[in-house]
Amino acid sequence: MADLAAFIQGMPKAELHIHIEGSLEPEMMLALARRNGVTLRYASEAALRAAYRFGNLQDFLDLYYEGMSVLRQEQDFYDLAMAYLRRAAGQNVRHAEIFFDPQGHTSRGVAFKIVIDGLWRALEDAERQLGMTTGLILCFLRHLDEADADKTLDHALPWRDRLIGVGLDSSEKGNPPSRFQRVFARARELGLKAVAHAGEEGPPQYVREALDLLRVDRIDHGNRALEDDELTRRLVRERMPLTVCPLSNLRLCGVPSLDVHPLERMLQLGLRATVNSDDPAYFGGYVGENYLAVQQALGLDRAEIVTLARNGFEASFIDDALKRRYLAALDDYGRTAG
Ligand code: ADE
Ligand code: ZN
Repeated sequence: MADLAAFIQGMPKAELHIHIEGSLEPEMMLALARRNGVTLRYASEAALRAAYRFGNLQDFLDLYYEGMSVLRQEQDFYDLAMAYLRRAAGQNVRHAEIFFDPQGHTSRGVAFKIVIDGLWRALEDAERQLGMTTGLILCFLRHLDEADADKTLDHALPWRDRLIGVGLDSSEKGNPPSRFQRVFARARELGLKAVAHAGEEGPPQYVREALDLLRVDRIDHGNRALEDDELTRRLVRERMPLTVCPLSNLRLCGVPSLDVHPLERMLQLGLRATVNSDDPAYFGGYVGENYLAVQQALGLDRAEIVTLARNGFEASFIDDALKRRYLAALDDYGRTAG
């Protein structure tokens, strides 16, 4: 339905689950490889895109870490983040909470300062030039150990005020949240919010651990929580936000097709689901394309689309006054848009 596509495009949106390194488009990857003298296994955009066929999360992560190896200088991180923020603003994303993976860079000898200075400068410019609000969430890589995560949190301490929270990402299976209890407790003592990928590929038990042991404020993905009725009821009762990423789930074979994606069921159950892009350069779409894909596959109506957007603003880590402003703008849009 063409009018719903226009409605989605113009709707004020929040994005709460975007890995900035996953917004590295092939064109920029090749340009940065040339600029920094990095040799990739893929010589052209076509060759890169042809490699974007994943059987599971690990297939993707292998390419994702290789791709980010072209990021070396502060300007690279600036260019990466600015390109994402411009695209997001072009889709009427008004607020973005952005993940970054410092260990993917410090492990290659790129200093934490280079990463955070480049990203931060882009966020400041985007706030000024594009009129959006933003936040940074430092993610720990769960395939590494807790001591490495601890060291990463130490690196971040001088820039504590540039962060809104910490997260947990990378290979989920076999790496339960319980391994990161202490570093999350430390981060929460610093006043940081906490989120964690859970139930993307891992079992419902990992979602429970994220809630009970990491004390998260949001669950990233959470799809497999639906396999457990008691856990599902708890998520509804606790109004726990889920940052759902439909095209990611499709491309990583979490669902065989979008018409059986659990998003609609999540809404029917009263779960606080939001729509996000995860790694848009790799999964075929930014947040707008994610909304449109589920709208079409699941036949979502306008009210459901607005509920998803409202959930996004409500689940964000902005202060209440700003939240009310965004929600009022969304309500206005829902009432008056074509
Ligand atoms: N890192 C980047 N994208 C990810 C995803 N979808 N799951 C886990 N770790 C990630
Ligand atoms: Zn993710």
